Amino acid sequence: MAYQFLTVRREAAVERVTLNRPDVRNAFNEQVIAELAEWARGAADDTGLRVVVLAGAGKVFSAGADAEWMARMAGYSQEENVRDAARAAAMFRAINALPCVVIGRIHGAALGGGSGLAAVCDIVVATDATLFGFTETKLGILPAMISPFVLPKIGMSAARELCLTGTRFSAARAREIGLVHAVVPEAALDATVQRYVDEALTAAPTAVAATKALLPQVWGRAPEEVAERTAVAIAVQRASPEGQEGLRAFLEKRKATWAP
Ligand code: COA
Repeated sequence: MAYQFLTVRREAAVERVTLNRPDVRNAFNEQVIAELAEWARGAADDTGLRVVVLAGAGKVFSAGADAEWMARMAGYSQEENVRDAARAAAMFRAINALPCVVIGRIHGAALGGGSGLAAVCDIVVATDATLFGFTETKLGILPAMISPFVLPKIGMSAARELCLTGTRFSAARAREIGLVHAVVPEAALDATVQRYVDEALTAAPTAVAATKALLPQVWGRAPEEVAERTAVAIAVQRASPEGQEGLRAFLEKRKATWAP
């Protein structure tokens, strides 16, 4: 698919996906959502893909949902409105469920759905000047589709404060509440992202995919409820070719075949 608002650059097992609608600060309308969803569908089936870096072109990462697009929705039927919102929800779900490591490279601002995109990344590196915010309530709307991804990241207490006020908050605060993992000066952004990319490439691809699938199934459940599921997960993986290779490489004091 030829994208209008996404730039996709592939280098071996790493794909760099950049939101490219800088004149409106990478706000996403139906076209951006369709392109992200289409890209995520392909990425999910791409067994050679191990790391994704999600970034934004221009001054900011993303100003979230396109206000013009949402304002137009008043002219749509309730049914059309729900269908349209469901497509955005599916886009967030698709990125969230990618079996590879997704790293957010965030600068400038990540507001509304932009902070939602940060929440579906596994690792988020932000510049120290980045502003975050679940600003929807300030615009008379609400952080609905992103809430299933935001809540597990920042917890109910921070979500109630930040979503109910719509206040903008610093990268340092975003790190404190678990939305961001590293805060760096702008000049160190790419090098820090690259360190995470390199680190991610040392983890085994199917082990990463299995871990990413397992964590949400275990989260919030009692240990005895997930005992069988977790036992099966490790049993399958340690007997797999990748599990065998990883364990043998460790015992033989050599790099595993998947490590760069
Ligand atoms: N939807 C549609 N257009 C948007 C937008 C959005 N979410 N965010 C910014 N834009 C547009 C502006 O209207 C402006 O258009 P114009 O050039 O025709 O006037 C253009 O993008 C540049 O925005 P501007 O505010 O001048 O850029 P900035 O670099 O000074 O500030 C932001 C960037 C992201 C801090 C600021 O645009 C902003 O706060 N946006 C709203 C973010 C928000 O609350 N999003 C939640 C949506 S649910």
